[in-house]
Amino acid sequence: MCSEIAEDPRRFFFFMGKGGTGKSTVSALAACFLAARGRRVLLLSLDPAHNQADIFDRPFSGRPQAVGERVRVAEVDQRHWVDRYLHSVQDHVQRAYTYQSAFNLDHWLDVLRESPGIEEYGMILAFQHYRRVEHDIDVMVLDLPPTGLAMKFLRLPRLSLRWLAHLKDLREEILRKKEIVHRIQLGRKELETDRILGRLKEQGAFYADLKTLFENPAATRIHLVFNPEQLSIRETGRICDELKEIELERCMQPVLNKAAGEEFPLPPELFPGRSVPRLSLSGRPLVGLSALHGFLGEQGERMDFLLH
Ligand SMILES: Nc1ncnc2c1ncn2[C@@H]1O[C@H](COP(=O)(O)OP(=O)(O)OP(=O)(O)O)[C@@H](O)[C@H]1O
Ligand SMILES: [Mg+2]
Repeated sequence: MCSEIAEDPRRFFFFMGKGGTGKSTVSALAACFLAARGRRVLLLSLDPAHNQADIFDRPFSGRPQAVGERVRVAEVDQRHWVDRYLHSVQDHVQRAYTYQSAFNLDHWLDVLRESPGIEEYGMILAFQHYRRVEHDIDVMVLDLPPTGLAMKFLRLPRLSLRWLAHLKDLREEILRKKEIVHRIQLGRKELETDRILGRLKEQGAFYADLKTLFENPAATRIHLVFNPEQLSIRETGRICDELKEIELERCMQPVLNKAAGEEFPLPPELFPGRSVPRLSLSGRPLVGLSALHGFLGEQGERMDFLLH
């Protein structure tokens, strides 16, 4: 494990799950609960369709705003981070290819801006930004979008590392071929100084650090929010399988939300041998700080799983 991560005392609590199960509400509750227990919290919405402004009943932006003692909230401007990502690509291409004027780079950036997969890059850049600048916190609570995009976000470091390994092999092969064609003995030197290879290595370090963080249960908790109804339970089973496949299962913490009582039995194969925390179904709308605190007061020890 990278020592910087091992020494970082901050924790990263992600909330994911099927649409409408209560990811945003439980994130907001978790942030208020942790702050009331003395933790300094940043609640960050990474969902392009933000919900936190509706829940706290006040507008938010990318700049964290205090909503109570020790708790601040920000909603990430996805467009801003996608643009930043594209500008960094443009910058690197221009530096690596001085003959780039032959390409119409602006046109390609416009195509990239609308390309599939760009959203999760924006999310990753935003997450890394807040992780880099927000040091005076104990916990970052991350409200994720519904399953599809959330899984892409969590998969991205792993997927990117696979791509980067192939691209690195390819670049090294190109440099070796170049050496043979030119019949010069500078091959090794060129391998060491090649800008593109350097950039691939830099990106490799960036994603390796994220992958290490995501896979570290001491730092990362992926709360899987679900409801006591069949479609939600089925999707939750599939999310568990996917988290297993990308080796994030050890960081996963299920949370049954809107559970009317203890009587709702979970299929035993869903979380074998695990007790699953249950939050009750509120009779009142969970909107505004006092409603959130009121609901927390009714939950007794049900939120204590966040403290372990
Ligand atoms: N424990 C609860 N009791 C009663 N209502 C709840 C509870 N948790 C969430 N809700 C309500 O359920 C609805 C969906 O909640 P929320 O917006 O938090 O879900 P979400 O998973 O973030 O949705 P989306 O996928 O759209 O982002 C909201 O009206 C919210 O107030
Ligand atoms: Mg939401």
